[in-house]
Amino acid sequence: MSIRPFQAQRIHAPRDFQSIPNQPICLEIGAGKGKHACAFAAQHPTQLLYAVERTREKFMAMQKQQQLLAADNLQLVHADAIAWTVHAVQPQQLQQVFILYPNPEPHNAAQRWLNMPFFEFLLSRMAAHATLTLASNISSYIDEAEQQLIDLWKLPYQRETVAQDAARTHFEVKYLARGEVCEQLVIQKPENYRTRFDQQAALQGQKPAGTDHAP
Ligand SMILES: C[S@@+](CC[C@H](N)C(=O)[O-])C[C@H]1O[C@@H](n2cnc3c(N)ncnc32)[C@H](O)[C@@H]1O
Repeated sequence: MSIRPFQAQRIHAPRDFQSIPNQPICLEIGAGKGKHACAFAAQHPTQLLYAVERTREKFMAMQKQQQLLAADNLQLVHADAIAWTVHAVQPQQLQQVFILYPNPEPHNAAQRWLNMPFFEFLLSRMAAHATLTLASNISSYIDEAEQQLIDLWKLPYQRETVAQDAARTHFEVKYLARGEVCEQLVIQKPENYRTRFDQQAALQGQKPAGTDHAP
């Protein structure tokens, strides 16, 4: 892989960080006001979703939504998703990841999710067959991410057009109402996919999520 290794050891824990149990979870990065997180939790009562948002006003709006929902399978986290993932998530713990309408970072390509060394770390936290959904209204963002999947990450994916009547997130509603085309990549981690972090975890004898309770 021609990307520098992510320096996880240099990332400080978020303020007031609390660790989480090592059990299978779903993760939404940049959950905004929590529209998708609340709907997902309501529709998938057996899955536990951590919704991470770093902007205070959005996080507070998400908290209000969650109070209306009263679901115990949705955990809200006010933090930077990179720092939180590094400190909270164990190898192969993630069953599904959502990054819906990330900031496009027009002037800073290095800050786009699939261009970041952190993406390799995130892949190592995904279980075999787990999916990551990346949605955007900017076709060049999806084009670039798709090229990274082919050239760098070498991962299987599907590229899909988001239905006109979809309304998963506040940004999705806004873009579709303007008549913009929204697309998503649904990326799957294959069974035998290994990142440099998977190899490290194997050397350190770490157990994948869910195996603590195996018979
Ligand atoms: C364009 S908004 C989309 C919000 C929501 N997903 C939606 O579609 O309505 C991008 C969100 O990602 C959040 N964000 C960006 N980088 C983040 C990071 N590293 N950790 C947590 N949240 C992040 C921003 O605060 C912002 O709320």
